[in-house]
Amino acid sequence: MGAVGQPLHHEAAHLHVSGRALYVDDLPLPANTLHAAFGGSPVAHGRLRALDLAPVLASDGVVAVATAADIAGHNNYGGIVPDDPVFAGPLLNHVGQPMFAVAATSHRAALRAVRQFCADIEPLPAILDIRAALAADSYVIPSQTLRRGEPDRAQADAPRRLAGTMVCGGQDHLYLEGQIAIAIPGEDGQLLIHCSTQHPTEVQHVVAEVLARPMQDIAVQCRRMGGGFGGKESQPALLAAAAAVLAVKTGRPVKLRLDRDADMQITGKRHDFLADYEVGFDDDGRILGLKVMLASRCGHSADLSGPVNDRAMCHVDNAYFLEHVEIVSHRCRTHTVSNTAFRGFGGPQGMLVIEQVIDDIARSLQLDPLTVRRRNYYGLARRNLTPYGMTVTDNVLDTLTDQLEASSGYRARRRAVAAWNTANPVIKRGLALTPVKFGISFNATFYNQAGALLQIYKDGSVVIHHGGTEMGQGLHTKIIQIVADELGLPPAAVRITATDTTKVPNTSATAASSGADLNGKAAQAAARTLRARLLAWACTAFGVSADTVRFGGGEVVIGEHRLGFAELVRQAYLARVQLSATGYYRTPKIHWDRAAFRGRPFFYFGYGVSVSEVAVDTLSGETRLLRVDVLHDVGQSLNPALDRGQVEGGYLQGYGWLTAEELVYGGDGQLQTHAPSTYKIPTARDWPAEAHIALLQHEPNREDSIHRSKAVGEPPLMLAFSALHAIRDAIAACGDGHRLPQLPAPATPETVLRAIAAIRGEAWP
Ligand code: MTE
Ligand code: MOS
Repeated sequence: MGAVGQPLHHEAAHLHVSGRALYVDDLPLPANTLHAAFGGSPVAHGRLRALDLAPVLASDGVVAVATAADIAGHNNYGGIVPDDPVFAGPLLNHVGQPMFAVAATSHRAALRAVRQFCADIEPLPAILDIRAALAADSYVIPSQTLRRGEPDRAQADAPRRLAGTMVCGGQDHLYLEGQIAIAIPGEDGQLLIHCSTQHPTEVQHVVAEVLARPMQDIAVQCRRMGGGFGGKESQPALLAAAAAVLAVKTGRPVKLRLDRDADMQITGKRHDFLADYEVGFDDDGRILGLKVMLASRCGHSADLSGPVNDRAMCHVDNAYFLEHVEIVSHRCRTHTVSNTAFRGFGGPQGMLVIEQVIDDIARSLQLDPLTVRRRNYYGLARRNLTPYGMTVTDNVLDTLTDQLEASSGYRARRRAVAAWNTANPVIKRGLALTPVKFGISFNATFYNQAGALLQIYKDGSVVIHHGGTEMGQGLHTKIIQIVADELGLPPAAVRITATDTTKVPNTSATAASSGADLNGKAAQAAARTLRARLLAWACTAFGVSADTVRFGGGEVVIGEHRLGFAELVRQAYLARVQLSATGYYRTPKIHWDRAAFRGRPFFYFGYGVSVSEVAVDTLSGETRLLRVDVLHDVGQSLNPALDRGQVEGGYLQGYGWLTAEELVYGGDGQLQTHAPSTYKIPTARDWPAEAHIALLQHEPNREDSIHRSKAVGEPPLMLAFSALHAIRDAIAACGDGHRLPQLPAPATPETVLRAIAAIRGEAWP
């Protein structure tokens, strides 16, 4: 049996659980290494009239200070729009925005020193939230409209109409490993950077631009991250650039590590969103015309907000056919951290809108929301064109929903929940089934390419390099499986080391869930090239035809002969066969016209459905997840154990976002929830007593993806919609059916109590 499709454990599991896996902070440092820290803006918005750093320089252990004046090249790490200074000034745009960095003899000395600055700042009015930004027309990039059909006429003609507002909060990535970079100067202007990054090439590019050096002089390595979740796509470049500037200035290695509070205050998060919608529908709950005003808090700069909001727009449809639709998307500039990629990349926020619309429609018609969801699902042969003009050809929504509805006992439990709620005035229960349809590929077409470098050493051992990064998702394990499968080796025979810009150049971020899709195909191509080379040599050397040669089980059968893989390699080496090869892949079929907002941005869609049941304490507002059922589509799984891990982890991370994690900013623009003491992520205790997690079987990807698998990194996060909607369901049960639940996310106890008061028509203090 080949290595692909096996439920193998993570390639580094034995190192993770025994504390021997090396993260950037664990790397032994050269003896003369300095430790850096940022000095940040004390105001949300202001003009820096003067900055006196003499006290900082005089502080114990300080060796150097760097400001914008020390930057030889561009003072910018914004990847798309050049509006993200490494060191800010004279304009300061959010609390904590780095103005300078120090290098000192210890981490502690650096942290002590950065607080010693004296600044003369003229305060300017700060815009802190979406409504304020909309009122001031404050945007990081121009607004975008997606229109199909005649939404105004369709709404005017519709027998029923309603309007509402969807609000969802942001989310801190809370990767276990905070942001970190080490810059080590080499000879002749070269620099080696160790960085916890999903995007080594971007770090290389930004450092090169900041230092005004060619990319050839900068090498970036990342063995693994302790979680990224999108937070290490664009932002690690800030740390790497600051460390690099200090390393060049001092000629010494510089390590810059953010502690948790600094990480939460300085780095961007998931965008919070606000959406006003108007929908026209028929008596069966079918949507006839939908108009959505979608606005997100981007923070002070563009960062990835353009693509994040584009993806939000492309996911307002989620699983539903919207014939007449208009989506207007505003990308709001606020004086807060610049929000960035986070698992789902805007998709979840867009999808939450339509899920609320459907829920409102169903409740206003006194129908089960599941019934209305199914009536609006994309069809197979018709009603299958997305608002942006892509035909949905791989729809498995009905299959998934049929199976989960039956296996979860949805209908019987719906009746049981109703009976419970009639009998129990204090603890209310709620139940919901929600679908996920998520587009796979980067919207920006050029990102959809990948490279690999396969090396076989003359002892027969194999190392595969590829452009993807490991953040816990198991990408390296899958790549090992793919290469082992091609070469007929056991997975343990293939090694992966650090992702390294000197091995594979011009890589894309490991993001958009496409790490395995892209790098898996590139690695497979490299392995196929090398296997073909070995095979051609074996045919000549042994005088056999190709159809008599088989690779498998660590051996190679060549006609009558049977050789160990290592022996074959040894002989091939002596015969001067080249034992390394590159592989390359670019995703076929995709195209995107951003101006027209039309095209086929996605190679295919990933799907999933989930049912959640909750209990809500109407006195305290606390909620508890009682049971979760999931059926998720990963095509033909490359590794069912890892995929299941992604599904469970994704669900729980989404559950945290929607029910518990709350980013609270003070009126001064200061983030008040900047540590796990005040910012609550889910724990093992939140996982329900009863969980049934399954992968859809016998539905290989209809597109030619790597081994017909499907991406699994992001889509499961949105399975948690069913938990939020189950809470809505429980809140609805507190009213008399005449009001719709008003429940923004996160559904914290306070928010839930407010929603219960609202649905009962009671005043809330
Ligand atoms: N899983 C773990 N354990 N840690 C992570 O940081 N990031 C998620 C997802 N799953 C993440 C994770 C995000 S945001 C993405 S885009 C994908 O993994 C990236 O990896 P992939 O493309 O290899 O799936
Ligand atoms: Mo994931 S948000 O695409 O890094």
